[in-house]
Amino acid sequence: MSGDNKIWIFDTTLRDGEQALRASLSQKQKIQLAHAIARLEVDVMEVGFPVSSPGDFDSVQRIAREVKGPIICGLARAVSADIEACGEALKDAERRRIHTFIATSPLHLQYKLRKTLQQATEQAVAAIKLASRYTDDIEFSCEDAGRTPIDDLCRIIEQAIKAGATTINIPDTVGYTIPNEFAAIICALRNKVPNIDKARLSVHCHNDLGLAVANSISAIQAGARQIECTVNGIGERAGNCSLEEVAMIINTRKDVLAPLYTDIKTTEIYRSSHLVSQICNMPIQPNKAIVGENAFAHSSGIHQDGVLKAQNTYEIMAPEQVGIRQNELNLTSRSGRHVIQHRLAELGYTDADYDLEAVYKSFVALADQKGRVFDYDLEALVFFENMQEQNDYYSLDFLSSSTHTGHIASATVGLRCGDQLFTEAATGNGPVEAAFSAIARISKLQIKMVDFNLQAKGSGEDALGQVDIIAEHEGRRFHGAGLATDIVRSSVLAYVHVLNMIQRAQTIDAHKHAQKHTREHASEHTPDKNTVKIAAGEQQ
Ligand code: KIV
Ligand code: ZN
Repeated sequence: MSGDNKIWIFDTTLRDGEQALRASLSQKQKIQLAHAIARLEVDVMEVGFPVSSPGDFDSVQRIAREVKGPIICGLARAVSADIEACGEALKDAERRRIHTFIATSPLHLQYKLRKTLQQATEQAVAAIKLASRYTDDIEFSCEDAGRTPIDDLCRIIEQAIKAGATTINIPDTVGYTIPNEFAAIICALRNKVPNIDKARLSVHCHNDLGLAVANSISAIQAGARQIECTVNGIGERAGNCSLEEVAMIINTRKDVLAPLYTDIKTTEIYRSSHLVSQICNMPIQPNKAIVGENAFAHSSGIHQDGVLKAQNTYEIMAPEQVGIRQNELNLTSRSGRHVIQHRLAELGYTDADYDLEAVYKSFVALADQKGRVFDYDLEALVFFENMQEQNDYYSLDFLSSSTHTGHIASATVGLRCGDQLFTEAATGNGPVEAAFSAIARISKLQIKMVDFNLQAKGSGEDALGQVDIIAEHEGRRFHGAGLATDIVRSSVLAYVHVLNMIQRAQTIDAHKHAQKHTREHASEHTPDKNTVKIAAGEQQ
């Protein structure tokens, strides 16, 4: 199977990427990201770890039902509860894959699992057989394969394929290997595992030594045919292999890598990268390859002169290839709805991506304040409109704040909670602190600010200010974002966003709790005789 030339792109932004975030995503945010990742035309998207929490189960299930195009995949340890949850969550997907894994390195076997390789192999085989009741598309990963002796890898992989695995994934879980070493693992597997042609070989590289992309490229040159990666390379610790980098390497260096190719729609890269960065609250470093702010900016005079004479003197890719549009249009409050719609279509948004009325309303308000509205303003408005959930419990009714140098600041906030309006005033060292204290008095929730970040959207003194905060409530972290021309207002909007996230999480928890109670009550009367168990002592 490794003979064909297509490199499958397996995106794990919503699983390995999400796992590393400082605050978890709401279901709506996950769905938004899933649609953006599907627009990139990835082949497979891993969208969660269904057994890990009821929330994760629900979002995998919703994505499986809603998102069309790629194969939808869920992660499961090689234990029956995980496989069953995964199979159940994925059952409505057009095409589904169960990805199951077990650690194989001596270190992990001895200290983490306290098992022999033989026991791990038996557990993996049983898990794969159980997964085959739900789908015939089964991926098996040898966790910490990069530090597993090659003969051990060959042994477990041969059995996994025999049991029904159709993709064999080789993770460099701790980002330890270097490119020629990793390529040698792939070559050895192709030469030594007798049934290797019955499965697609995949790689999953972490970036602890900054080699995730290099290792993945070496692996495909050695015969791997699937790369696991994430948008912007987000993921555990130093992250995963970056999707946009591998896609553009394969695209740009056809002279070396052809006939290998991917089906990634590269013009969607820029937009999805920015959406992931915004929603996940993971800023993109300016010099990040492909999607960083400076990736296509030429600052030296010699370079600028060269590019003007012939673009390829200093540019190996055109910005348009990754979806960066050069011609910025300024809109004013006289621009009508159809102009906004037309411009958003040029920027790659379909009508289904936003609510025209809502965006237009915020556009007019912004245009009245700023005079001119640029593409980045418009995109920020769409982003923030999409972030609003229906029926938010909390909303900002009014805000006034005052500050005088050398004096304490004060703020008065009117906050709607359901259909009631509450007003509070407070003082603080600055207007943001004063406004936050006033809100805290109204909400009465114990909230600890973990992080506060302010950035300008666009340039100039009239740029919109975006505030991102991470706040902790009862041991859980929530990310809230606010956007306005006035940064005290952005801060307050971010705080109100957090309150709504907490309120929504509490409602979901209460609902789950009630469901669990009903299920437990019912099962006391009807014991389930059909529960399948892989083996006693299977827990990882
Ligand atoms: O890094 C890793 O080993 C993983 C596996 C679950 C594939 O993420
Ligand atoms: Zn990983």
